[in-house]
Amino acid sequence: MSVKKRILSGMRPTGSLHLGNYHGALANWVGMQDAYDCFFFIADWHALTTDYENTGNMSVFAHNMMIDWLSAGLSPEKSTLFVQSSVLEHAELFLLLSMITPVPWLERNPTYKDQIIQLDNKDLSTFGFLGYPVLMASDIIIYKAHGVPVGLDQVPHVEITREIARRFNYLYGNVFPEPEAVLTESSKILGLDRRKMSKSYQNTILLSEKPEDIRAKVSTMVTDPDRARRKDPGNPDICNVFEFHKLYSPADTVADIGARCRTAAVGCVECKKMMAERLVEALAPVRDKRQYYEARPELVREIIESGNQKARTAARQTMEEVRAAVFHKTI
Ligand code: TRP
Ligand code: SF4
Repeated sequence: MSVKKRILSGMRPTGSLHLGNYHGALANWVGMQDAYDCFFFIADWHALTTDYENTGNMSVFAHNMMIDWLSAGLSPEKSTLFVQSSVLEHAELFLLLSMITPVPWLERNPTYKDQIIQLDNKDLSTFGFLGYPVLMASDIIIYKAHGVPVGLDQVPHVEITREIARRFNYLYGNVFPEPEAVLTESSKILGLDRRKMSKSYQNTILLSEKPEDIRAKVSTMVTDPDRARRKDPGNPDICNVFEFHKLYSPADTVADIGARCRTAAVGCVECKKMMAERLVEALAPVRDKRQYYEARPELVREIIESGNQKARTAARQTMEEVRAAVFHKTI
């Protein structure tokens, strides 16, 4: 028996991953693969909770997301990588949990209230959207996960998951551990325009970006907004290009650039060019792996199917216990 603690997390298949996704979540997942028994899944049912009309690209997005994951270093040998909608047991547990979840728990969820205000272009008046944390709870506890690496916006959902697990255990007997949110240090990386990096702002650099596009995009990055002319000294501490240097350039280069920026000994054009080259270099292995997997769609499908199989085995085992507990059956 494995003594490693189990962690689980999911991502919606909404298109190609960018550096914000990488530094905000994926890099963390990659780093946890040795210390934990990891389950990572593509949350395609979750994507429907806000986008039920746009399902046309979903399976292509899911396939491409798996390629992004594999290219960035998630390993099917180390982790269980799967697709939510291929493990139907999540839906059965979702149904049973929905019976015991008080609607006010869902209505007072801060993320729910926020999203209704923020995503005002979407129809969020559905039962599925309100019940989304119940689906998320099923995703998590069906694998008896101990830890759930998530960003701050998802913490209320993990909290509801704990409450639902506790309520289930109270009603039917101890089946589920209460999972803990493992807060992902939120990425300092901003988009090209210094806003949060997000597909909807069109300010991203993709993990799959081509070298010439990386160079072109980096050249458009907003720098220290107070540095109007080349001869003006800059302030690297408020410059996003400098944040990228910290991630992608060696420490002595970072120190050197910081000093030269402050004395106007380096210009932004040159500084960006240096950074772009480091980024191109850093993403080279990711690009190579992507090419490998893109040329082998059948292999990617096999990786997904074997992950689905592993996930199903674990989920089925839990569901045996769940049915026994709820319906007082003997296993
Ligand atoms: N709700 C998460 C998001 O939108 C995705 C997700 C679904 C998830 N189920 C999960 C994350 C379970 C962690 C655990 O980003
Ligand atoms: Fe930013 Fe570099 Fe320009 Fe300084 S020189 S403001 S660190 S881009």
